[in-house]
Amino acid sequence: MARRYAPAFAFEYVEGGAEDELALARNRQAFDRWRFLPRTLVNTTGRHARTTLFGVEQPLPLVIAPTGLNGILRRDGDLLLARAAAAAGIPFCLSTVSNARPERVIEAAGGRVWMQLYMLNHPALVDDVVSRADSAGCEALVFTTDANVFGSREWDKRSFRAPGSLSLRRLLDAACHPRWAWDVAIPHGLPRFVNVMDFLPPEARSAKAGVSLIPALFRPSIDWDDVARLRDRWRRRLIIKGILDPADVERAVRLGCDGVVLTNHGGRQLDTTVAPIEVLGEIARAYRDRITILVDSGFRRGSDVAKAMALGAHGVMVGRATLYGLAAGGEAGASHAIAILASELDRVLGQLGCRSLAELGSAMLREGPPTVAFPAES
Ligand SMILES: Cc1cc2nc3c(=O)[nH]c(=O)nc-3n(C[C@H](O)[C@H](O)[C@H](O)COP(=O)(O)O)c2cc1C
Repeated sequence: MARRYAPAFAFEYVEGGAEDELALARNRQAFDRWRFLPRTLVNTTGRHARTTLFGVEQPLPLVIAPTGLNGILRRDGDLLLARAAAAAGIPFCLSTVSNARPERVIEAAGGRVWMQLYMLNHPALVDDVVSRADSAGCEALVFTTDANVFGSREWDKRSFRAPGSLSLRRLLDAACHPRWAWDVAIPHGLPRFVNVMDFLPPEARSAKAGVSLIPALFRPSIDWDDVARLRDRWRRRLIIKGILDPADVERAVRLGCDGVVLTNHGGRQLDTTVAPIEVLGEIARAYRDRITILVDSGFRRGSDVAKAMALGAHGVMVGRATLYGLAAGGEAGASHAIAILASELDRVLGQLGCRSLAELGSAMLREGPPTVAFPAES
């Protein structure tokens, strides 16, 4: 439904991965390395998937991942996703390159809102994002560290004849999606990067200019000193998103961070990385009692979430899964995507003989070579 609703360029923006998209494909294939070993004849009546993240109980172990430019799928896409998250009782993480400011999201959606931070090459902008997240009441700051250099999403790039300018073919295709065009593009103009635009020269504040200028603002000099400075400044939960190496989890623990997200950015940054789920077990064994461990990249089914929880994650971030829902049906679609994951997770728990997530463990998994060859998502 999402593919039909959105014009190809918008769908490709969501769907694409970096370069050969091997990390993107591996993120899905990797789940198949673990098979379930269920217990039988366990009464699982009244089972639940509740968990506690950062001291707050929630009905599901999920967080909506930060994704930029949600407004290209639906007008006010950030608000729609945030409302769906609030209704499901799970946190929503707003991107630095969102189309709504944190104060607006909190006012319009309520719920638990986290703010994602890209430390772009513009100190006043970074300072402003952190201050506004603080005064708006965001529960956590999520510093994304795997975008020090912007990834090359070649499939997405082919939609443009120059940065920000669609090819004729893609323009015609957009014109053939009148429902999308009326919702997203025509009455209000394309969505703008509201957290960033005030810091760009006036002629560069349009959506089109933003798309071409922002990649150049990613700062290759970000390092652990930035984390130490953020830790001094931000008193609420601080989460580092972009970790795959256990040694980096150790650094985050030592600097007093509250959480890490094991991720390869949904296969959109460095290609041919390990899938985060492949390093989760090792990292969770060493660190799960010292720091909150979230994981993302490739989660599409409740069984994927169950595997991550069995391997020791405290929670899972979902990116594309809820974006497909958003594109397909706005807020109701995003809620439906969460409901599908929730019902699958509930069914898997029951079939595994578990009454709660706490009963999942690595003893319920056996590792072996993948059996299924997944096609790349594209
Ligand atoms: C369309 C899109 C935009 C994204 N934008 C951001 C972003 O602005 N900040 C960020 O930290 N991660 C961003 N990500 C990465 C997600 O936060 C998350 O790591 C990834 O989507 C997880 O993989 P999944 O899509 O397979 O669930 C983006 C991902 C997608 C698909």
